[in-house]
Amino acid sequence: MTDPATPFDPKQVQEWFPSPTRETYFNTAGSALCPRPVRDEVVGVLDALTADVADAYRDYAPRVRLLRLCLAEMMGATPEEIAITHHTAESASIVANGIDWREGDTIITLDREYPSTVYPWMRLERERGVRLVMLEEREGRLSEDEIIAALRRERPRLFALSAVEWCSGWRFELQEIGRVCRELGTLFFVDAAQSLGFWPFDVRACHISALAGSAWKWLLGPPGQGYLYLRRGLLDEVRPVFVGSETVVNAHDYLDYNLTPRPGMRRFEYSTGNLSALVWFGAAVRFVRKLGLDEIRAHVFALQDYALERLGELGCELRGGGPAERRSGIIAFRHPTLDSPTLERTLREDAGIRARERDGFIRLSFHAYNSRLGVDALIEQLSRL
Ligand SMILES: Cc1ncc(COP(=O)(O)O)c(C=O)c1O
Repeated sequence: MTDPATPFDPKQVQEWFPSPTRETYFNTAGSALCPRPVRDEVVGVLDALTADVADAYRDYAPRVRLLRLCLAEMMGATPEEIAITHHTAESASIVANGIDWREGDTIITLDREYPSTVYPWMRLERERGVRLVMLEEREGRLSEDEIIAALRRERPRLFALSAVEWCSGWRFELQEIGRVCRELGTLFFVDAAQSLGFWPFDVRACHISALAGSAWKWLLGPPGQGYLYLRRGLLDEVRPVFVGSETVVNAHDYLDYNLTPRPGMRRFEYSTGNLSALVWFGAAVRFVRKLGLDEIRAHVFALQDYALERLGELGCELRGGGPAERRSGIIAFRHPTLDSPTLERTLREDAGIRARERDGFIRLSFHAYNSRLGVDALIEQLSRL
């Protein structure tokens, strides 16, 4: 893949994201706006599917292969190590339900993680006698030293962590945590939903065992599509919970039944994929790559600096900012007098501003489609309240 990065030309941004509300759409961390060129590709595949489903699957197969390749490259893996799933919850559930747990095994996670990567472990605690330890975050973060101390103390079978905290935007330093997990024989499960597409990943350098996430945030992809990377050596330790025509080695010899699983991660995709969503996902990942992750981060960080400065002038309590390596696409603020759930509603109803209340703060997540214009609109609205 050699698509050159495209500089942020405001005229192109207008063409790519024609939505009239894009300037005050601050919810990429919830679900991103779909770029026009991506939308056009989806219209193309819908037309093809309408004409002939089988032909469409054949003709678009190379684009689905390209999706696997691009995703794999973004995380430093190979396409055979990736399954396309429906969401983070499914990816985490594949891992949680596929491992042969032993009574008394310990899982560690943090106490403010997103439910999709909490409930799969919680259910193991309830039904399989696994011990779940939830480390307490303070102000949307926890130091790596504290995490590592807990890992050494508890020696868990699995440690689950989001690379970026979904409410505060705090970015964890994964490499040392991963190294300690490897030393202890702990599986390192990383939720990359708020990170892949914004920061590059290196699953090997970080000793990540499994990486999961969703398509519709920083990858600008479709709702209801996600991914799961599993380190190659773990493939046979995770038993597929669901099986179907695509799980097995001879996937298209329909009547020569043979339960032997395929050699790669596609064994977890188990049956017919949703082609229009896969093409959307592929076009979106290529679009993000074309913009360039470095360029996206530079644009977003500059906008965050501006927003944090202006929000600080209004006396708001802030989360975010600081050194680049600790930052993500998310910042958050709390108004000095207005409670955040009321403020979320007021901003939406009075000014069309899309920003969600999360953990007592208003979360702001910018992307290429945002500029100072939108931040000024937010500040003006807040000044009026
Ligand atoms: C950290 C994190 N993980 C996962 C998700 C989404 O989970 P799922 O893909 O299961 O919908 C979110 C959505 O906000 C999130 O912030």
